[in-house]
Amino acid sequence: MIELNTSHPNPAGIKRIAVLTSGGDAPGMNAAIRAVVRTGVQQGIEVVGVRRGFSGLHRGELAVLGPRDVANTIQRGGTILLTARSRTWRSAEGRAKGAQVLRDWQVDGLVVIGGDGSFHGAHFLQEEHGIPVVGVPGTIDNDLYGTDHTIGYFTAVETALDAVDKLRDTGASHERIFVIEVMGRHAGHIALDVAVAGGAEEVFIPEDDKPVDGVVQIVKESRAKGKLASIVIVAEGYKGGAQAVGDAIQAGTGMETRVSILGHIQRGGSPVSSDRILASRLGEAAVHALMDGRKGVMVGRTGQGLTYTPLHETWEKRKDVSLDLYRCAKCLSV
Ligand code: F6P
Repeated sequence: MIELNTSHPNPAGIKRIAVLTSGGDAPGMNAAIRAVVRTGVQQGIEVVGVRRGFSGLHRGELAVLGPRDVANTIQRGGTILLTARSRTWRSAEGRAKGAQVLRDWQVDGLVVIGGDGSFHGAHFLQEEHGIPVVGVPGTIDNDLYGTDHTIGYFTAVETALDAVDKLRDTGASHERIFVIEVMGRHAGHIALDVAVAGGAEEVFIPEDDKPVDGVVQIVKESRAKGKLASIVIVAEGYKGGAQAVGDAIQAGTGMETRVSILGHIQRGGSPVSSDRILASRLGEAAVHALMDGRKGVMVGRTGQGLTYTPLHETWEKRKDVSLDLYRCAKCLSV
């Protein structure tokens, strides 16, 4: 029989922690909250949930969470704690107020589940007020340095891919060109995965400033080869977005072109298993990290295992898209 030891040493003497979600919601955030709460309880640590991210923190929207409060949430999209993009938090006064609330609640550490905007807030909270903070990467954009994947990314790719497959059906029936814009903010990770998995003719990502005109020739050649539907994927961060690419194709080929911007649908839905598992692992790791006395870091996962990256590096260092995948996308579009 395999003996499993679930207890973790607590040299930092953590007794109570808080957890919040902040910035854009991402599928799998609930699985991460659940993991933080249940790991805390397992280790004899009280966990306090903060509603509405940093906005709710300085308004004192806190409540103790137990294991049953997070039951039946692992499969749910969105975040049960609610989220916000806080403006007040950008000011030193706002952060001071939030820090005071955490002190009033006798919180020894804070887990912030979010993206780079949220990590900015977390970083300054720790720098200015000495409150130990650990970040958990939760964003569909996958744009954080220090982890191979962020929570929500896998589900967003599946959601976008499902839409691409459907648009391909109607595109083929009408012999139209579909230019499809996916999210990702300033990064092309979603676009690249969706382009390869969706068999796109061309993909535009912000990491490459290639001009839009080249696509006209590609689309014409595709037609000449007998392709009925051309799919072009554009990351929202590419200059001009999908509309600029669609306009160029329509003008350059005279072919019927439709632009479809997938938008926030990519943030919703039940998380796929990879997101649930990543969220569960990183939520647990965040609590262990605080118990170990780590602070000001994001827990992530790479091929090497768990990683701890200083929060400021997660946005200062650039996480590159895979050039090999980019090359593959081009190679397979013949
Ligand atoms: O960061 C997640 C994200 O969905 C980006 O892909 C997108 O650019 C942005 O958030 C949209 O933000 P909002 O929901 O505030 O419009």
